[in-house]
Amino acid sequence: MILLTGGAGYIGSHTATLLLNNGYDVVIADNFYNSTPDVIRFIGQITGKVFQVYNIDVTDKDALAQIFICNPIEAVIHFAGYKAIGESVQHPVKYYRNNIDSTLSLLETMNEYHVNHLIFSSSATVYGQSPIIPIPESAPTGHCINPYGWSKYFIEHILTDTANVSSNMSVVILRYFNPIGAHESGLIGERPNGVPNNLMPYITQTAAGIRNILHVFGNNYPTRDGTCVRDYIHVMDLAQGHISALEYLLGHRNHGNTEIFNLGTGKGYSVLEVIKTFELSTGIKIPFIFAPRRAGDVPECYADVKKAARLLGWSSRKTLADMCIDAWRWQEFCLKQHI
Ligand code: UFG
Repeated sequence: MILLTGGAGYIGSHTATLLLNNGYDVVIADNFYNSTPDVIRFIGQITGKVFQVYNIDVTDKDALAQIFICNPIEAVIHFAGYKAIGESVQHPVKYYRNNIDSTLSLLETMNEYHVNHLIFSSSATVYGQSPIIPIPESAPTGHCINPYGWSKYFIEHILTDTANVSSNMSVVILRYFNPIGAHESGLIGERPNGVPNNLMPYITQTAAGIRNILHVFGNNYPTRDGTCVRDYIHVMDLAQGHISALEYLLGHRNHGNTEIFNLGTGKGYSVLEVIKTFELSTGIKIPFIFAPRRAGDVPECYADVKKAARLLGWSSRKTLADMCIDAWRWQEFCLKQHI
C-alpha cells in the first residue's frame, strides 16, 4: 500500500489515478488546503477503484501515526507542501514551518512504523540559474531565490542526511521541471488559487475569457526569440515518472541510499512557442502584450533527462500540443462546473 501525502493536489491526484490503474493500493492524506474533496470523487470515477482518504495535516504526527497503524504502508510519496512562490516571499516562516515540519513529522513517523521507502517532490528551482544547460542532476544547487525553493533545497538535504545514517532507508528525490496539462478525461487538473502565476493556467484562463490579456514577462532575454525557455512536461508523463521511481525503489536493495532524478522532457520551449502551440492546437487566439521581466526568472531552464532514462527506464511521451489540448479540455470542464 502506497501513502500519498498531498494526494488530492495537482500532481498527487494524477499520480493516484495511475497508481490505482496499475493495481497499487493507495491511501491519500490531504488537508485540502490546495484542492477540494471532489478531486477524490473524480479519481474514483476515472479509475473505478476504492481507496482510503484521510483529511489530515501532515504536520500532525498523531493523525499521521493513525494512517500507519491502520494500513500496511510500504512506501510514501510526499507531495504535500505549500507551493506559491510569491506567497513564500511574503510569508517565509509559514512556508518553512509547513514544508519542513511536514517532512520531519513524516520521517519520524516512517521511522517509528518501519517504513523505509520515500519519494519526494522536489523542483528544478533548486538549480537556480544553472551554468550547465541542459541541466544534469549533478549541476550545482543552492542558488534558490525564494523561500519555496529553499524549502525544497533544505528538505533534499534532510532526506539525504537521514538516508545516509539509516541502513534501511532509501529515498528518491524527483526534481520536476514545469508540469502542465491535465488528465485526458478532463476531470482533474491544476486549480490555481486566484490569479494564476504560472504560464499555462494564465493562457487557458485568457482563452476562456476569465483574463483579458496575457502578459509575457520579458522579450529581451538571450534566447532564440527573447522570451524565457522552459521544459514543460505533461502531468501524466510526470505521474508515470513516479510509478517508475516507485518500481525502482521497491525493486532495488539500495538501502541507505538517495537517488535524484530530473523529470522533464529535455526540450525547451519559449513563452512565444507555447502561445503559438496553444493557438494552433486549440484554434483559440491568445491576446498578449510584452511586459517587463519578472523578478527571479532565469532565461533558460531545461533538463538533461538521461539519468531517468538509464536507471528508471522512463522518458516523457507527450508533445507540447498534447499538453495544450489537455489543459484546455480541463479549463472547459472548470467553466462548465463553475470551478
Ligand atoms: N510567464 C509569462 N506570463 C505569465 C506567467 C508566466 O510570461 O503570466 C512566463 C514566465 O516569465 C516564465 C515562463 O512563463 O518565463 C514560465 O513561468 P511559470 O511561472 O509557468 O514557471 P516557472 O518556470 O517560473 O516556475 C515553475 C514552477 C516552480 C518551479 C519551477 C522550476 O512554477 O514551482 O518551474 O523550474 F520551481
